[in-house]
Amino acid sequence: MKQEYQAPNAHRDKFMKPQERKNFLRWIEENEIFLEGVSIHKKVLLKWFNQIPIEIYSEICECMEDVVGRCDEIEYNVYQVCAYVINHFLDRYYRSLLIYQELFKTGLFLKREQLRVIDIGTGPGIMLYAYLDFIRFLDKYQNKQIYQMNNEIDYVEQSEGFRVFMHKYSEILMMESDYKGIMLPFHNGTYYDATELNFSGKRLGSQPWRSGSGLEIFVRKSFDIIVNNGRS
Ligand SMILES: C[S@@+](CC[C@H](N)C(=O)[O-])C[C@H]1O[C@@H](n2cnc3c(N)ncnc32)[C@H](O)[C@@H]1O
Repeated sequence: MKQEYQAPNAHRDKFMKPQERKNFLRWIEENEIFLEGVSIHKKVLLKWFNQIPIEIYSEICECMEDVVGRCDEIEYNVYQVCAYVINHFLDRYYRSLLIYQELFKTGLFLKREQLRVIDIGTGPGIMLYAYLDFIRFLDKYQNKQIYQMNNEIDYVEQSEGFRVFMHKYSEILMMESDYKGIMLPFHNGTYYDATELNFSGKRLGSQPWRSGSGLEIFVRKSFDIIVNNGRS
């Protein structure tokens, strides 16, 4: 018989017992909760798409091959960002929810109430939006606001185009849906270049875009979830 994977510290999971986790997963399946997320993002994507000036449609179309065939090689200018989002957002969003569901089954996901998450090379932030929705569903199921109030997300992204996208997209998402109290991935992810990261907690340097404020940047020594989907 196939044995269910048990996370090393799963027994310390004081927020949700194994049976409660199973009930939550059944609730997701029976109510097709992930499709609720897909439907919200479909609506928000359409709103975002309708703001794109018609004059740049042809430039976007010309980038379609780049974002399918060379998505790990390009620099992501504004047209490539649009093409990437149109091509990849919704299906990657859904698949990301499935990944969090698998993580959730292990019990690792809920070791602490306050999870620290970083997405390295986040692109349009798909895995972060999916993460935030997953914990939002968890709160909805429990009729509480534990996880969404306590999450801490950050990202690494070098493309200004993706950062601008996330800002706009998060704004529309906030207007369109009930994302009260949720920290959305706006433009202000702390890190630009993944090649500079090390998790020693040592000073990384000051970021050019923050130099006016004199802020020094450190990388935390630990995160609960590190997402790295892509080349970075
Ligand atoms: C193929 S995309 C994947 C995006 C996203 N992870 C996803 O799954 O949809 C790769 C992303 O990594 C970013 N990237 C590549 N090299 C990077 C680096 N050295 N530092 C920061 N971001 C980087 C790119 O700008 C792009 O957004």
